[in-house]
Amino acid sequence: MDWGMKNRLSQLMPNGRCFFMPIDHGYFQGPTTGLEKPGETVKPLLPYIDALFCTRGVLRSAINPVTSKPIVLRVSGCTSMVGKDLANEEVTTSVDEILRLNASAVGVSVFIGSDYEKETLRNLSKLVNECEDYGIPVMAVTAVGKEMDKREARYLALCCRIAAELGARVVKTYWCEKDFEKVVNGCPVPVIMAGGPKCNTELEVLEFVADGMKKGAVGINLGRNVWQNPHPVAMAKALRSIVHENRTAKEAYDLFKEFE
Ligand code: 5RP
Repeated sequence: MDWGMKNRLSQLMPNGRCFFMPIDHGYFQGPTTGLEKPGETVKPLLPYIDALFCTRGVLRSAINPVTSKPIVLRVSGCTSMVGKDLANEEVTTSVDEILRLNASAVGVSVFIGSDYEKETLRNLSKLVNECEDYGIPVMAVTAVGKEMDKREARYLALCCRIAAELGARVVKTYWCEKDFEKVVNGCPVPVIMAGGPKCNTELEVLEFVADGMKKGAVGINLGRNVWQNPHPVAMAKALRSIVHENRTAKEAYDLFKEFE
């Protein structure tokens, strides 16, 4: 691996672990609750996260460029919640733009099993071809669109493996209750857990994250369960303690209670 690629990955994943904060939801669902002013939302959370995941539009308009926080740029889109098919994505951002914005990595969704499987996998492959030339890691996002019931191990393992085979340096996927270790073990590159819809309790979030980390995930990309929580900073501290300090869910919950 070249120096630039290694350096970017190690900034994104200090000690091989990571807590990414996604604020990219607006790219297909508009002004999401809690993200109306994304710059304000993330300001108090920045000390606890390893990278921000956002589009170029939010980056330029809402994030202070005087930051050392690595950026994972969301570079797929062109669909919406109210359109015909969320899977019909394209790559939105050129490599020139990715470099200009000093992104440390890029993220692109793949919709495996959808009508646009091939197009989204082609998006991933082309992006890998272009970004590898500059040492920029590509993170594949195994998206399920509105079909949340697809979040089971066999399907997720298939998606992660295909994304890795096409050259993704990291893969973001969903945690699942049963056989999550099979998802991680079948994927030759690091796996990061996505958040999914807001859980009912804080403990539920902390428990799935701790379980996923125990089963081999390298980190999390969790948004709504943090910034839609009434105590986002306490939640961020608790999650960080699981990812970077190996705390159990119970210990992390005690930390949450301390800071809520
Ligand atoms: C959507 C994404 C988002 O970044 C991510 O899944 C949203 O995070 P959360 O579900 O935790 O709010 O990639 O495809």
